[in-house]
Amino acid sequence: MTVSRAVSSSRSPRSSPPAERPSKNAIAELLTEARERTLLLISGLSDEDLHSQHDPLMSPIIWDVGHIAHFEELWLTQNLDGPIEFSEMPGMYNPFEHPRAERASLTLPTLQEMLKRLSEIRIRVLDCLDKLKWNDENPLLEGGYVYNMVLQHEYQHNETILQTLQLKKGEPYRAPRAITFPRRPISPGGSVRFDGGRVTIGTNDRTTAYDNERPAHELELPAFLIDRNPVTNGRFVDFISDNGYGREELWSPPGRRWLAESRAVAPKYWTRDGDGWITRVMDITRPVDATRPVCHVCYYEAEAFAKWDGKRLPSEFEWEAAASWDASTGVARRFPWGNSNADARIANVDQLAFDTAPVGTYTNVSPIGCYGMVGDVWEWTSSDFNSYPGFESFPYKEYSEEFFGSEYKVLRGGSWATRPGAIRNTFRNWDYPIRRQIFSGFRCAQDA
Ligand SMILES: [Fe+2]
Repeated sequence: MTVSRAVSSSRSPRSSPPAERPSKNAIAELLTEARERTLLLISGLSDEDLHSQHDPLMSPIIWDVGHIAHFEELWLTQNLDGPIEFSEMPGMYNPFEHPRAERASLTLPTLQEMLKRLSEIRIRVLDCLDKLKWNDENPLLEGGYVYNMVLQHEYQHNETILQTLQLKKGEPYRAPRAITFPRRPISPGGSVRFDGGRVTIGTNDRTTAYDNERPAHELELPAFLIDRNPVTNGRFVDFISDNGYGREELWSPPGRRWLAESRAVAPKYWTRDGDGWITRVMDITRPVDATRPVCHVCYYEAEAFAKWDGKRLPSEFEWEAAASWDASTGVARRFPWGNSNADARIANVDQLAFDTAPVGTYTNVSPIGCYGMVGDVWEWTSSDFNSYPGFESFPYKEYSEEFFGSEYKVLRGGSWATRPGAIRNTFRNWDYPIRRQIFSGFRCAQDA
């Protein structure tokens, strides 16, 4: 395994410049747009669909919606003069008072009642925004941070809702598809080399980035190879056909325990169909497409595949360097393609494709030539979710700090279900290594 180590340096780490604070009008438009998307995703769902618990891992969708609204109320009306306790959130929607599996037993409002609540809160939020005096001394307001945080929170819950909708009981979710992929996938395979050296990881941005992405710091990375593309379904079928799930030596001890308990023989949502496999994406069931990235695999499956392929998973630092580090300028890019924001024309993000795209469809590449690092599937890395040197919890400990440790693995890069405002090269997602309901895949790396 490649070891990376933090180095102290008198030079300040060089990452891309922070985004500027949006105007009040722009913020109001972003809040409106975020809400329109949430409502689009749940349009067409019955009150029963919204209130039932489709899986023990997930909240009833109406809970997510109420939680989005009350998080917004807490931070954009009550907390603007300095944060009060997270526990001030109404008990019903406080995630720390009610674990997911319990949320269906709460008396949650009907959709009509919820819509009223949403607009009532939004009116007060916009009123506060209107009267707000920007004060860069208040770290919540610096660079418009608190608004970006609340927007990202709604975006992230959209992705959670999509996980629930893929798990939906009864009739499959009718996805309101509105994005089609560009036609000619260009898909160079193989791997590319990262020459190693000193790179900047993380960011000092205080306008958008979460506390766990800060501070920017330098690392010395040994040279490594990394796959140009995420691992495809086709390669994953090869792994299955080669008895990948049956070969003990490919699985780590916790991986073997998971395998024994889950009895998995393929990614989640795959079923046998004669000699082949079919899969379901929301309301479409079709043969597994060999050219798309494998999705809905847990960390242990990714780890076993990599071993079978004579490779390993990249660390999150290798992943970030492969996505961001521009050796010609010595500056980290905010996105693989540069510093311009993500959108659905440049990467498979923003949900409305409701699917992964064949690898190489989007021709934006990172400085060293990796494709699809942002969008399509979250990519498992070998890293535990830990704090960066000099980490400071902000604005509340329950965002990141409570989760640091070896229980969680870091995923990078966002998925098709990620909104563009909730992804960048430095963004760190984390989850239990057994989770498969997330839109998760991976790419492999090797020591050089
Ligand atoms: Fe939340």
